[in-house]
Amino acid sequence: MTTSISGPITGPVSGPVTGPVLEVKDLSVTFRTEDGPLSAVDRVNLQVADGEVLAIVGESGCGKSVTAMSLASLLPRTATVDGSVRLDGVELIGADKRTLRSIRGREVAYIFQEPMTSLNPVFTVGYQICEVLQVHVGLSRRAARSRAVELLKLVGIPSAERRIDDYPHQLSGGMRQRVMIAMAVACDPKVLIADEPTTALDVTIQAGILDVLRALRERLGTSIVLITHDLGVVADLADRVAVMYAGRVVETAEVHELFARPQHPYTAGLLAASPSAGRHAGTHRLNEIPGLVPVLSEQPDACTFADRCPRALDTCTTKQPTLDAGSHQVACWNPVRERVEV
Ligand SMILES: Nc1ncnc2c1ncn2[C@@H]1O[C@H](COP(=O)(O)OP(=O)(O)OP(=O)(O)O)[C@@H](O)[C@H]1O
Ligand code: SF4
Ligand SMILES: [Mg+2]
Repeated sequence: MTTSISGPITGPVSGPVTGPVLEVKDLSVTFRTEDGPLSAVDRVNLQVADGEVLAIVGESGCGKSVTAMSLASLLPRTATVDGSVRLDGVELIGADKRTLRSIRGREVAYIFQEPMTSLNPVFTVGYQICEVLQVHVGLSRRAARSRAVELLKLVGIPSAERRIDDYPHQLSGGMRQRVMIAMAVACDPKVLIADEPTTALDVTIQAGILDVLRALRERLGTSIVLITHDLGVVADLADRVAVMYAGRVVETAEVHELFARPQHPYTAGLLAASPSAGRHAGTHRLNEIPGLVPVLSEQPDACTFADRCPRALDTCTTKQPTLDAGSHQVACWNPVRERVEV
């Protein structure tokens, strides 16, 4: 499915990438559970520039969603969060409710995997988008409705003037996901966090949603943090990639560099079964590596990948590697250095 991005909404067209709009420093998240503390995220550092798409990849349970939820202050009360998340210079960790309310939706918006998480089945989609525009942007009823139609066009909903009065159940899964994206960008957020936005959809519909995200970045200059298991999506959309393992970022690089020269044995393993890295959404999921992501009560003084790693050295079991410096960063005592042909 192709998307026509039309309508009078104008905004910054993609231009040179400037300083970070989102800056995460030493972010750690621990949950209180019946079995004791669970370290879900450990000292994560990330930066997202204006208009940049950062993909976060990694196996199930490695901390992608918990990281993403902390960026939008959506974690439950059982979570203890340390470190710093600055959005356009404003600190979110420990911020008061008023600051968080003013930031959520307006500055940072979150797209969930399942649209019905955010859509209310008893109201029309138009009512729901207009409510956001009236409450958060202060538009009149009439202005909100006309802006809602523009937004529905922006996300590629055909006959937007008519579909605005549909209830969520009258729309297909792909159209509901588009409505959710329209709601998420209604207040023109600086950062859009998309957690597996296409996983529940079939392949042709996924491609349409990716077109929408690409267009938002180009037309509105929105920065995007994209969580996905799909390497085709990463290759298509991302500028940079952060690879997570057991709550930590173990490698980060510009997207083509990462596919051509994965340095962490974990990244190399994930990419191994995807020689073309994919150009089609839904077709290239991460390779499966024997073994499981460990669930940790605290981070050990060792590499957490050591028992699955074909390159492990003695040092790996006694000292935790940290990310090195530079544009391609890796946390590993024995990184892969040869080039991988893709
Ligand atoms: N509310 C919670 N309470 C306790 N533990 C949690 C909670 N949410 C997540 N976790 C744990 O934190 C760890 C990281 O979970 P997270 O949801 O971030 O993984 P993920 O990388 O998004 O995985 P997936 O690819 O399956 O979505 C997991 O061990 C998970 O069980
Ligand atoms: S630090 Fe050692 S065990 Fe960990 S990924 Fe690197 S080589 Fe493997
Ligand atoms: Mg997740």
